[in-house]
Amino acid sequence: MNTIRKKGFPVLEGQKIHYLDNAATTQKPGCVITAAENYYRMHNANPMRGLYALSIAATDAYEKARSSVREFINAEKDEEIIFTRNATESLNLVAYSYGSMALKEGDEIIVTIVEHHSNFLPWKQAALRAGAKIVFFECEQDGSLSLDKFKSLLNDRTKIVAMTQLSNVFGRMYDVKEFAACAHEVGAVFVCDGAQSVPHMPVDVRVLDVDFLAFSGHKMYAPMGIGVLYGKSRLLKEMPPFLYGGEMIEYVTREKTTYANIPHKFEAGTVNVGGAVGLDEAIAFMKRIGWDTIIDSENKLTAYMFDEMSKIDHVHIIGSDDPGEHHGIITFVIDDVHPHDVAAIFDENDVAIRAGHHCAQPLHQHLGLFSTTRASLAFYNTKEDIDAFIACLKTIRGKMGYE
Ligand code: ALA
Repeated sequence: MNTIRKKGFPVLEGQKIHYLDNAATTQKPGCVITAAENYYRMHNANPMRGLYALSIAATDAYEKARSSVREFINAEKDEEIIFTRNATESLNLVAYSYGSMALKEGDEIIVTIVEHHSNFLPWKQAALRAGAKIVFFECEQDGSLSLDKFKSLLNDRTKIVAMTQLSNVFGRMYDVKEFAACAHEVGAVFVCDGAQSVPHMPVDVRVLDVDFLAFSGHKMYAPMGIGVLYGKSRLLKEMPPFLYGGEMIEYVTREKTTYANIPHKFEAGTVNVGGAVGLDEAIAFMKRIGWDTIIDSENKLTAYMFDEMSKIDHVHIIGSDDPGEHHGIITFVIDDVHPHDVAAIFDENDVAIRAGHHCAQPLHQHLGLFSTTRASLAFYNTKEDIDAFIACLKTIRGKMGYE
């Protein structure tokens, strides 16, 4: 297991911290920070609008980032990549725009109980607006989602299926290719939340054949405030705009407006070029590290952490008892200790983890839990981080006055 990969990450190098909250956001390497800073230092102008060199350079940088994202997820065309603020905004865009076009009274939207709020609440609102119904696809106690159960929920009223590729609570990966194929058989579109998967494994939208994929830059080493919605061009072309204003139009008169082609139809107002440049560099950075290294490091760290946690009395891991089913995320409870106390004790020991409901309250209700504690990894974590986490975990019940 590595001990040196924190090099090049200013937050990790500059302070004493064992950062195990990567599912919430990752740290940023210096190259990403420099790329975004250099854009503002040397190339800043409002893109798409100006007929002068600086503005044209800003437009070029922004469109280059779009091409990098297209290649990263193997989309067919650049126009299928829409820049948003984050996965949440991407999911709101699809739910509002596709939902308003495709849903009518009595239609059904399937969402899994595993989803975090960003892939549930936009659908709930879309259903309310259309008079459609949310159908919950319940998971098993180990976090798995049964294909047979899914098939039993599908019918000719099913118009949309919303599903994560990797649970932010269980760390479990789902075979979205298989679920998407079943959804397509009844004519439904499949919306994949890639917020937790895209940073940790190669995701190929054409192999998976998902209709939409949402993800955030900030969970994959890029700046906050830049996210992506991939959509099949045939769907995006039909969909109405989500936000209205500058740059998303073709022609405006007092009476009538025509809209720009995709992707610009969905990118109203001044866009986040600095964020896109940072995301472009983050993708280049991940390529330099390589998927083999990223996956191998995260798998080894997860297995080690799982094994060490399993040896501690009164610590209960949520979801599967197979470490191979936890992809960099281990959520747990400690008998008699509130997760907020757990987090406070970790913090006193320079270990950053997340406590609470992880924006997945319906899942916690389904599991009969109010809140939990979560440790989540990135490839740059080290054995020392896990050792510090385990050493602290062993002391928590004692510190709270238990044997
Ligand atoms: N959804 C993010 C998380 O799981 C914020 O922490």
